[in-house]
Amino acid sequence: MIFEQLFDTKSSTYTYIISSGKGREALIIDPVIEHTDEYIKVLESLELKLVKVIDTHIHADHVTGLNELNKRTNCTRIMGENSKSEVIDIKLKDEENVSIENINLKAIYTPGHTDCSYSYLMKDRVFTGDTLLINGTGRTDFQNGSAHEAYESLFGKLLKLPEETLVYPAHDYNGKKNSTIGSEKNNNPRLQVSSKEEYAEIMDNLNLANPKMMDVAVPANLKGLTLKELKNQAL
Ligand code: FE2
Repeated sequence: MIFEQLFDTKSSTYTYIISSGKGREALIIDPVIEHTDEYIKVLESLELKLVKVIDTHIHADHVTGLNELNKRTNCTRIMGENSKSEVIDIKLKDEENVSIENINLKAIYTPGHTDCSYSYLMKDRVFTGDTLLINGTGRTDFQNGSAHEAYESLFGKLLKLPEETLVYPAHDYNGKKNSTIGSEKNNNPRLQVSSKEEYAEIMDNLNLANPKMMDVAVPANLKGLTLKELKNQAL
């Protein structure tokens, strides 16, 4: 299997390029628009054909690469059914599958960080977006976030996966690349709570500043801007 984990230093975003092998179909999760050329180079060097591209949710800290990749490769843009993006080609329901050649991902609706957040389970690993981070969890104070829903998504869904399941988040701010469900269950400080109310108490009192890119990123991601459209808009 080809599994590339790429990193955007500006937003600390992880992007994943996945394929069952050289010369086959590929899928990208959570691309960052500024790195489109880099993704295309990786795809070309491995003779991969990009057929699908997924955003785990509407990102507030970077502009998605979904639309630039769609323009350049004609790949299908995928998000969960609650996404308010105007340009998504396929909107998945909870527990629906998304496949490319020899690879299957199951969509799991995990709202809380945003109301459109999905995680994707692929055999031994789960892409958790910002729902579950390594030693952290996604903030719940904007984009229709809800600490109560996040608790349900975490404790009712993700933490019920087998403990050895590898966790690949959409971000890490400390250089960590992955974790496991068991490690997060036992060590993640946000998850050492005994009730939904206790979790909400923590999340509702984080008092975080808004992401720097938020005012640009959210509208751009809802409209589905390409690089050229993004540049024109900035002029
Ligand atoms: Fe996010």
